[in-house]
Amino acid sequence: MTSSKAFAIVIMAAGKGTRLKSKRAKVLHAIAGKPLLAHVIAAAQKVVAAADIHVIIGHQADEVRRAVESSGVGFILQADQRGTGHAIMCAREQVQGYENILVLSGDVPLIRPETITRLRDFHLAEKAAMTILTAEPDDPSGYGRMVRAGGDRVKAIVEQKALSKSQQKIREINTGIYAFATKPLFANIDRLTTDNPHSEFYLTDMAALLVKKKSPVLALKAAEAGEVLGANTLAEMAQLDAFLRMRKCNELMDSGVSVYRPETCTIDPDVEIGADTIIEPFVQILGNTRVGSDCRIRSFSVISDSQIGDNVLVRPGCIIDQSKVGSGALLGPYSHLRPASEIGEGAHIGNFVETKKIRMGRGSKANHLTYLGDAEIGEGVNVGAGTITCNYDGVHKHLTIIEDGAFIGSDSTLVAPVRIGKGAYVAAGSSITQDVPEDALAFGRARQQTKEGWAKRRREKSK
Ligand code: UD1
Ligand code: CA
Repeated sequence: MTSSKAFAIVIMAAGKGTRLKSKRAKVLHAIAGKPLLAHVIAAAQKVVAAADIHVIIGHQADEVRRAVESSGVGFILQADQRGTGHAIMCAREQVQGYENILVLSGDVPLIRPETITRLRDFHLAEKAAMTILTAEPDDPSGYGRMVRAGGDRVKAIVEQKALSKSQQKIREINTGIYAFATKPLFANIDRLTTDNPHSEFYLTDMAALLVKKKSPVLALKAAEAGEVLGANTLAEMAQLDAFLRMRKCNELMDSGVSVYRPETCTIDPDVEIGADTIIEPFVQILGNTRVGSDCRIRSFSVISDSQIGDNVLVRPGCIIDQSKVGSGALLGPYSHLRPASEIGEGAHIGNFVETKKIRMGRGSKANHLTYLGDAEIGEGVNVGAGTITCNYDGVHKHLTIIEDGAFIGSDSTLVAPVRIGKGAYVAAGSSITQDVPEDALAFGRARQQTKEGWAKRRREKSK
């Protein structure tokens, strides 16, 4: 046997989540931008090392493992999901060397490390065989209920479907989070039966089993029910998501960021925003995004995995993805910055302009109806309305270079690879296929012909 260690955390995450009516395993559904299970692992990692966290997987095991394996936790396979008691039976080999285990549910995602620690300390101080974290939510329906024997002592946990008439009045619920001393747990776990409406092994039945063996089973009530609510339906997930989103907005507001109508905004937990920035209603800021100070992000913009400098105005309806925007820049309305767009300080990207993999220098402007892809654009460049970089020949992508101070007339097509030299002019409506030298003027369009009186003659002929 390996030397006995004090504590492991086991996270049950093998279930399908039938009540979701979804193809995806329940613990992979996201709230606040992260899978349910990732929230639980993050809390567990604040209490024990990743090596002492064991996640029980089963339904869509590979997908679940892939989603969280970078955390360094271990995995235990429960090939057939025959109930929460069966899940712990599957973990015996990996965890019986610990003196105690804490059991968390992969679908109770708001649990805080402080609460896990409190459960552990109480369990150890009381030398309990099993300690059940309980709560009193406003609506206890659907949860297992606590039948107490007096004081902290528990008599049994009774699942919703098995409640007697008088037990239906019990408001205290089982949160699905427990501490166990491993010796009595594994000495008795094989006594669990499947004598219940789902024909499953219920971990909750361990309470009455241990009580029968005169082992101490205790209840510890969580300070607030909000953090131990389960996510069994999509409606419950939406509620937990809203709760976490509001918490993030409140943190931002505490640090000097104005969030108007915060209940309409979706801001991921890792997003950083500087003071005096204003976030208007219906904005989404996602992933690993940083927004500087004194910015204004106007409504209906979606920013993901991007860096925005200070004093940037993002007008309504912009999409910014994996891009960088320099301080003082002005975007939108309706600009689309696709991955690897780097917009320089004070630059303008305006109405219906799409960019992809470009570097645009300080103070350059592309204000209207333009596509800029695979381009290096210098400083002080003016890109006229309707300009297109033709970057794709059907097989390969090619680079367009526009040097400092160049002027691209409206409705020009720049057929890459091509270079527009410093300070050069491209006449409006040009199709540019050859490099334009510094300070030159390039026309790339048919010369205009004008036929005097032609329209009048035509009208008269058709009378
Ligand atoms: C469980 C409790 C209930 C408690 C509630 C709190 C039981 C029998 N009931 O009910 O008393 O009030 O949690 O949220 O335990 N899982 C596995 N393997 C399985 C079955 C489930 O790993 O074979 C996992 C699920 O993925 C989930 C967790 O265990 O993360 C709980 O399972 P779930 O089916 O959601 O239990 P509840 O019905 O919510
Ligand atoms: Ca559940």
